[in-house]
Amino acid sequence: MTQTLTITDNRTGKQYELPIADGTIKAMDLRQIKTGPDDFGVMTYDPAFQNTASCRSSITFIDGDKGVLLYRGYPIEQLAERSTFLETAYLILFGELPSRAELDGWTRDITMHTMLHENIKKLMDGYQYDAHPMGIFLSTVGALSTIYPDAKQVHDEDIRRLQILRLIAKVPSIAAYAYRHSIGRPYIYPDNDLSFTGNFLNMLFKMTELKYEANPVLQRALDVLFILHADHEQNCSTSAMRGIGSSNADPYSALAGAAAALYGPLHGGANEAVLRMLNTIGSVKGVPAFIEKVKKGEGRLMGFGHRVYKSYDPRARIIKQTADQVFEVTGQNPLLEIALELERIALEDEYFVSRRLYPNVDFYSGLIYQAMGFPVDMFPVLFAIPRTAGWLAQWDEMLRDADQKIARPRQIYIGPDARDYVPLSKRS
Ligand code: ACO
Repeated sequence: MTQTLTITDNRTGKQYELPIADGTIKAMDLRQIKTGPDDFGVMTYDPAFQNTASCRSSITFIDGDKGVLLYRGYPIEQLAERSTFLETAYLILFGELPSRAELDGWTRDITMHTMLHENIKKLMDGYQYDAHPMGIFLSTVGALSTIYPDAKQVHDEDIRRLQILRLIAKVPSIAAYAYRHSIGRPYIYPDNDLSFTGNFLNMLFKMTELKYEANPVLQRALDVLFILHADHEQNCSTSAMRGIGSSNADPYSALAGAAAALYGPLHGGANEAVLRMLNTIGSVKGVPAFIEKVKKGEGRLMGFGHRVYKSYDPRARIIKQTADQVFEVTGQNPLLEIALELERIALEDEYFVSRRLYPNVDFYSGLIYQAMGFPVDMFPVLFAIPRTAGWLAQWDEMLRDADQKIARPRQIYIGPDARDYVPLSKRS
């Protein structure tokens, strides 16, 4: 039997039956309820989309109360332990784990697309020497749309797939160029013999040696971090990707917008903000005073809290284990002690417990990145590389979804009524 929600209009006594499907009513079904003859129908008011499903998606499932995260049904813990980033990206994009032949083909195709057009170097050279790499990253991704005008044909499945390959393959190269630019070192071309993360580390850190081979523990740690960051359903940057893509803009332009959304300190910029916060606290002794300031509303405990997770973020748990493996190779990050003490106090403190604030994915990731030799301002870029897979999967899903149209929220107008223009000479 179809479930329905009955709404009674207490002015007219009229009743409306709204069908409930998948735990939701359709906002457009409310339009039949009118508050007056001129009203086009009742709307919902939902700033920040806290209770609005904007799409049907089969990519990522999150149960924020239980701390569950699944990509296409597979638990994040199993993928982090047994998969690789490229395999997980394939899963997210195409819905199933690849066969051996599919994985080999996918890996080969990605490897063949890692090079950047030489003009990108000239573009990079135009940035200030101390430009933030995330600013360089997002504008360079956008600039790729001028190099691949075929990408505008967003309704052609083969063309979409080509752009997906290009983007996943090229974002590490852009990120590495941005980093090398910021430290004044020559750009390093991709090395096709290396793994996805091995090649990325090569493009970042190669000096005069003929072949750069990163420590396998660090390559794997980066791969795990990439798996954990690959998708996270309808967050701020993914909504930006879908929103921009809904106008049929090409994926490079849409992805530049998604990366811009990720840049903010409340989203992907949080890992950078965590490190800056730990540096400001300075020592374990400074932790109680900092917690008191946060409780008084003088700043936030960065890396804590999440719109969806109201328990421990499952990714934070895996990252903590990865941190131990990395620190065995690199030596412990001195800021770890401060982070552990912050977590210990926050998890016992009534302020954080009652608001269900737990460490999120960003709380420990920055410590690992720093120990691996990344400067703090590269952290959001390291988030954007794997999230490219998720953004593209969500974009592709949106374009296949017959329910979707150009994204266009409504508003409640609270400005003045219509009035006549006042000439400048008559204004007080
Ligand atoms: N430190 C201190 N207090 C916090 C924090 C925090 N990190 N996060 C939320 N709160 C408090 C708020 O002040 C509010 O308290 P109040 O009810 O007394 O006013 C309450 O908890 C609820 O907070 P909201 O802002 O309503 O929660 P929302 O779901 O909108 O925000 C967010 C989620 C943005 C992630 C928030 O928790 C935050 O700012 N965290 C710090 C930044 C961060 O780590 N971002 C990364 C998120 S993960 C990601 O994007 C990859």
